[in-house]
Amino acid sequence: MAMNKLYERVAKQIAVQIDQGLYRPGDRLPGVRRLAQQFDVSISTIVQAQRLLEDDGLIEARPRSGYYVRVQLWPRPAQPVISRPTVRPVPVTGQELVLRLVQAANEPDCVQLGAAVPAPEFLPARAIQRALSAAARAGGEQLATYQFPPGSPELRRQIARRMLEAGCRVGPDEIVITSGCQEALVLALRAVANKGDVVAIESPSFYGLLQAIESLGMRALEIPTDPATGISVEALELALEKWPVKACVLTANFSNPLGSIMPPEKKQALVTLLASHEIPLIEDDIYGDLGFEDERPHALRAYDETGGVIYCASFSKTLSPGLRVGWILPGRWQEQIEYLKYVTSLAAPTLSQMAVAGFLHHGGYDRHLRQVRSAYARQVAVMTRAVSKYFPKGTRVTQPRGGFVIWLELPEAVDTLKLCQQALARNISIAPGSVFSAAGKYRNCLRLNCAQPWNDTLEKALITVGKMAELSAGLAT
Ligand SMILES: Cc1ncc(COP(=O)(O)O)c(C=O)c1O
Repeated sequence: MAMNKLYERVAKQIAVQIDQGLYRPGDRLPGVRRLAQQFDVSISTIVQAQRLLEDDGLIEARPRSGYYVRVQLWPRPAQPVISRPTVRPVPVTGQELVLRLVQAANEPDCVQLGAAVPAPEFLPARAIQRALSAAARAGGEQLATYQFPPGSPELRRQIARRMLEAGCRVGPDEIVITSGCQEALVLALRAVANKGDVVAIESPSFYGLLQAIESLGMRALEIPTDPATGISVEALELALEKWPVKACVLTANFSNPLGSIMPPEKKQALVTLLASHEIPLIEDDIYGDLGFEDERPHALRAYDETGGVIYCASFSKTLSPGLRVGWILPGRWQEQIEYLKYVTSLAAPTLSQMAVAGFLHHGGYDRHLRQVRSAYARQVAVMTRAVSKYFPKGTRVTQPRGGFVIWLELPEAVDTLKLCQQALARNISIAPGSVFSAAGKYRNCLRLNCAQPWNDTLEKALITVGKMAELSAGLAT
């Protein structure tokens, strides 16, 4: 859809304003004169733009009172249904493509819909630069030394304060700083399980976790997971009776890729179930601060009374993935995890730790979170709308209430691995469904990263991938 004519460009901008919630369903649009002034175009251009928006079903005319945003804006695509993996422990396979996928994220010309990495526009780059400079100036000799585990005391104090928001009362001494959440997950797995052991996970699950399980020689047990409310506690309970599960790893708040959030009673039931079987629960809460609603959801760790929950998180999705600052609350495994962190990489980088401590101390974090959470909510809405316009009929899309990824279930015939390769040839990266399953399930699914500024290039990329999917589904006309 080339956007050459002026009225088309104006219509597009109004559509974006509607998508962004500037005008909500039922709101009256400003009159033609006001709009003409706002866009600095003629009245006839506005009239043409309004007709276009009316044809697109975005606005409707009401006699003698102007144009209104339609209440039923567009039919939201249906959500995928609960996953049905084969519940049997398997070695993880098929992860070779992932490195290519994440490398694409660093190529400047690539439209980056694959890796779940926010575009720099969504991160507080300048404030982080200031925090790094301030830390470099103030750090003195300390900068040149290791911050051995558990890590910077000031950073751990700041994190302990933030953990209250997630319902967790912990002291700074119960926190170990890690090099990102990925390292935290690996340390947690190594502390509680060994080669050959069975680890229960959500299905689909974040590929970094699958790779960690693979590299440690453990086996993954995929548990059915609901796109809205997370892992099925009943299915997990049945699996525990059948298989010798050594640990369970999951993301209760805005999981990756489904975006599911477990309701409080389900979190409680899960923690109680695993505690009664004395099975450690490793929680990945990396998206916990990124909910679209005001209240920060509690972590599973908040329900833990036995020290059996190991909590992992990082600042990679909120401040900067490049800082490599994460943390872990090891619960009962404090000593082992401090030691494992030490033997794995000695310490987390001193400058990064000091910079994040400074950033948290100066109080810009909550303001930044408020901005970025509403930006991500808008991005998810805009991308979902584009998918419903450009992807094959019948495509299902998740409706996450936090984070910034959406998961698409395309018609059965679409092979997203092929789609991914075709898209990469056109400089577009997407994440094919099969890399989110230990056994290569979800071949007709894909995950899209919505933390990209909306522009023509992005829209064209979605049109391209949508067309490829149409062809692949055999539905192209
Ligand atoms: C669910 C989840 N856990 C962990 C990670 C890795 O985080 P980090 O960059 O902090 O190591 C990611 C990053 O994509 C993720 O999505």
